[in-house]
Amino acid sequence: SLESLQFQKRMIESPIGEADRAALVAGGEFGQVFTEHMVTVRWNEQRGWHDGLVEPFGPLRLSPAAAVFHYGQEIFEGMKAFRAADGGINLFRVERNAERFAASARRLAMAEVPAELFRRAVEELVSSDAAWVADHPEGTLYLRPFQIATEPTLGMQPAAAYLFGVIASPVVVNRREAPPMRILISDDHVRAVRGGTGDVKCGGNYAASMPALGRAAEVGCDQVLFLDAAERRFVEELGGMNVFVVYDNGSVCTPPLTGTILPGVTRDSIMRLAADRGARLVERPIEIDELQEAARAGRVTEMFACGTVAVVRGIGSLHGRHGEVVIGDGGTGDLTARLRQELLDIQHGRTPDRHGWISGI
Ligand code: COI
Repeated sequence: SLESLQFQKRMIESPIGEADRAALVAGGEFGQVFTEHMVTVRWNEQRGWHDGLVEPFGPLRLSPAAAVFHYGQEIFEGMKAFRAADGGINLFRVERNAERFAASARRLAMAEVPAELFRRAVEELVSSDAAWVADHPEGTLYLRPFQIATEPTLGMQPAAAYLFGVIASPVVVNRREAPPMRILISDDHVRAVRGGTGDVKCGGNYAASMPALGRAAEVGCDQVLFLDAAERRFVEELGGMNVFVVYDNGSVCTPPLTGTILPGVTRDSIMRLAADRGARLVERPIEIDELQEAARAGRVTEMFACGTVAVVRGIGSLHGRHGEVVIGDGGTGDLTARLRQELLDIQHGRTPDRHGWISGI
């Protein structure tokens, strides 16, 4: 049973000194450096979740017939542990990620990881590799829980064996925000369809976004904005971030979760923080034509994207078939900068946690 599931530990001493670790963390590009350990847990029908292990980070041995390689039963999460002002380590809204992970599993007919196991696995890894988050006041540890179908079979049915893993990659989020993004409006590729997998976090969604991201890079844009698949008329999200629009009448708008948009934990948190500030928060469909027209007329003061990796990032311009539209003055807006700072302050324990989002390790 779950209560009796113990994580066996095969720990290694870090081969890296403190100074080298700090340099690796500070200098790195996202997702290139990993901590010493990983957590793995196995599932099969006979034993349920079993063989919990904290072991050295390293290659997995899988059959080339493992179902994940053929029919794509793969899901993941993105979350962070934060260095807290009091020297401890904070996790942010873990239960939300656990819930979404289970929802993703159900959508792909995979065995569900119970929320309690999800949390324990994450906590085991963070406490094992705490040194990576402890040294730098802006230090964060990006956590990547994932689950794959391991049963060796080419049979086209839900696999009978799974691996749940957690790996960690350190990042420093600078106090100063990154420059605003140039966004390409994608009118040929879509990300998700009604009834599809757009509202869960499976690798396939991200694979399908890549050609559009490549196209954006080719034309000097940082990111791509996907429109709805049915009409190519409404704003959905970027390739890995949700999107918000701030109008000059003070309303802060974001597309509603109607099944094709990922329910971002950062999205939800930003909605609450914006509402706390007295903003008129509106979840409503945003027409791309109306948005560009409003921006041209100077009625859009800010636009920003948000996600676990990006936190909150300003959008400076939109690029589409009808040319370029600058948002506001092209820089990072005031509200954008404040929401970003407020979120980081809560996550790092510099501001009271009014919403009960933080759990300590
Ligand atoms: C995250 O922000 O956690 C994401 O999922 C973006 C990631 C795909 C890079």
